[in-house]
Amino acid sequence: MVSINRVLPVPKRAANTRPLVVRITHWVNAFAMICMILSGWRIYNASPLFPFIFPPWATLGGWLAGALAWHFAAMWLLVANGLVYVAYGFLSGYFRRTLLPLTRVQLWQDFSAALALRLEHRAGAYNAVQRLLYIAVLLLGATAVLSGLAIWKPVQFAPLTALLGGYDTARLVHFLAMAGIAGFIIIHLALVVLVPRTLLSMITGRPGHQHATEVRL
Ligand code: HEM
Repeated sequence: MVSINRVLPVPKRAANTRPLVVRITHWVNAFAMICMILSGWRIYNASPLFPFIFPPWATLGGWLAGALAWHFAAMWLLVANGLVYVAYGFLSGYFRRTLLPLTRVQLWQDFSAALALRLEHRAGAYNAVQRLLYIAVLLLGATAVLSGLAIWKPVQFAPLTALLGGYDTARLVHFLAMAGIAGFIIIHLALVVLVPRTLLSMITGRPGHQHATEVRL
């Protein structure tokens, strides 16, 4: 017993289609991010920071040089695509419309509802927990890119490396940003499984149903 559909008033925003640029950049980002994480795990395995390595079958690149080639190729795609998404988000007002406002009261209400597994998922509008998670993953993505630059070119980007506390700390920051993003992806995919019609909406741009859904377990 995972979800029960219940007719709820459709917010005006539900009629809006999800912009094409958001859908394209989302899927390009998903591909680039997964390549970055899996090749990053192989690079980590060559010189682990902690007393564990990632299972080789879960990594990309085959060996260190292969993984580096994947990591740097996907890096250009991730950064170029991320810049398009962020520029569009700010300039078109998309971030303001979809990610704001985010108040503590809303967050508390939606977080409590999520814990009770009664969080409404309205077609076309993000709840406060989603808004917080999306803002957090954007910041984590920016942190991963900046700390990556700091450890890739510590001489050319010396002020950035110094700002992050030096090479070793920047490497730790890079790892922690990856761990945060990987945690986000696990929650994100679990939510897509719970409310699968959002997947269609992220592909076609249209809300999946003409009514909202309340998710209960
Ligand atoms: C292949 C795996 C992925 C799938 C199946 C997926 C699916 C989805 C779906 C269905 C939505 C719409 C949610 C809704 O309408 O409630 C969404 C939105 C979003 N996803 Fe993903 N996603 C994936 C990977 C990622 C990755 C790797 C990231 C970032 C690290 C990410 C970040 C986001 C963000 C920020 C949004 C909000 C987009 C916006 O409206 O601007 N996703 N995703």
